[in-house]
Amino acid sequence: MSNEARLNNALVTGGTDGIGKEVARGLARSGHRVGVVGRDAQKGARVAQEICQTTGNPNVEFFPADLTLMREVKRLSDEVASRWTGLNYLVHSAGVVRGRRELTDDSIESNFAVNYVSRFALTQSLLPIMKTASQLGNAVRIVIISGAAQNGTIYFADVNLTSKFGLLRMLRQCCQANDVFTVEQARRLAANYEHRVTITCLKMGVVKTNIRNGPDFRQWMKMLMSLLDPLLAQTSEDAAKSALNLLLAAEYEGLTGALFVKNRKFKQIVPDTSVTEEQIGKRFWELSERLSAGADKQYQKSISAT
Ligand SMILES: NC(=O)c1ccc[n+]([C@@H]2O[C@H](COP(=O)([O-])OP(=O)(O)OC[C@H]3O[C@@H](n4cnc5c(N)ncnc54)[C@H](OP(=O)(O)O)[C@@H]3O)[C@@H](O)[C@H]2O)c1
Repeated sequence: MSNEARLNNALVTGGTDGIGKEVARGLARSGHRVGVVGRDAQKGARVAQEICQTTGNPNVEFFPADLTLMREVKRLSDEVASRWTGLNYLVHSAGVVRGRRELTDDSIESNFAVNYVSRFALTQSLLPIMKTASQLGNAVRIVIISGAAQNGTIYFADVNLTSKFGLLRMLRQCCQANDVFTVEQARRLAANYEHRVTITCLKMGVVKTNIRNGPDFRQWMKMLMSLLDPLLAQTSEDAAKSALNLLLAAEYEGLTGALFVKNRKFKQIVPDTSVTEEQIGKRFWELSERLSAGADKQYQKSISAT
C-alpha cells in the first residue's frame, strides 16, 4: 500500500484561524494529513507551517479558496480530489458575521453563502472521495461548526433577507440551515446505505476569536460579547476539543444526524421538529441545490473562458 493510501486525510475550512485552526492542529497532532482552507495565501502558508512545527507533522498544506463564491467551492473540491484519493474528515468551520447585507456573484446573501451554502456545496462535491475512503474500510466523519442558536427560521420565500435584513435574523437562519442540513444529509446517506459516512453539527457558544474583528461586525454585538466574555467565553482550544471529540472519539463512530451544543458544557441536544421534519428537510435540500447550481454554471463559464 502506498503512503498516499495509508494516510488519513482531513480538510478543515476556516483552518487558518480561530476554532478551525485548533481543530486542524489537533488532527495534525493525531497524525493525519491536513488541508487548511482560507482566503489569504500568505496567512495560509504561515499557519500551515506553524501547525507543522508545533505538531511535528509535516503533512499540513494550505488550500486557498474564497468560500463566498460557489465557483471557488467547486475549484477547491476539484483540487482536493486531484491531490487526494480519499477524504476521511471534513470540518466546516469557515464563517463570518457581517452586519451588512451584500449579495455575492451567485446572488446569495454573503453570510448565508459562507456560513451555509458553501458547506452544502462542498460536501456534495467531496462526497465521492469520502465514499472512496469509506470503501477502503475507514469511517468518514463530517463535522459542522455552527452557532448555538436553536429554533431559528429558514425564510424560504426570501432566503437572502431582502425585505428585512437583521444580524440576529441572519445568524438564526444560518444556524437553522446547518441544523436542517445535518439531519437531512444524514438521512440521505443512510438511504443510500452509506452508513460509514456520518455527519454531526457542533453548535458553539461564545468563543474568543477574530470573528468579532471582521469587517461589518456590529459595534453593539462587540459590546455584548465583552459583557458575556467573563461569564461564558471559551478559548478556541476548548471549542476545538469538542469538535475533535466528534471527529476522533470511538464513542461517536456511527452516530449521525446528531446535534451538539458547547457552551460551558458539551452535550447532545434533541432537535425540534422544525429541524427533523422530513418535508422541511426535502424542501430545504431542493433550495440548497438551486442556490449552489447557479454556482456550477458560473464555474463552467469561468473555466470555459480560460
Ligand atoms: N467565535 C464564536 O463566538 C462563534 C460562536 C458561534 C459559532 N461560531 C462559528 O465557528 C466557526 C469558526 O469561527 P471562528 O470564531 O473560529 O472565526 P475566525 O477566528 O474569524 O475564523 C474564521 C475562519 O473562516 C475563514 N473564512 C472566513 N470567510 C471565508 C471565506 N469567504 N472563504 C474561506 N474562508 C473564510 C477564515 O479564513 P481567512 O481569514 O484566513 O481567510 C478563518 O480561517 C464559524 O463558522 C462561526 O460562525 C463562532
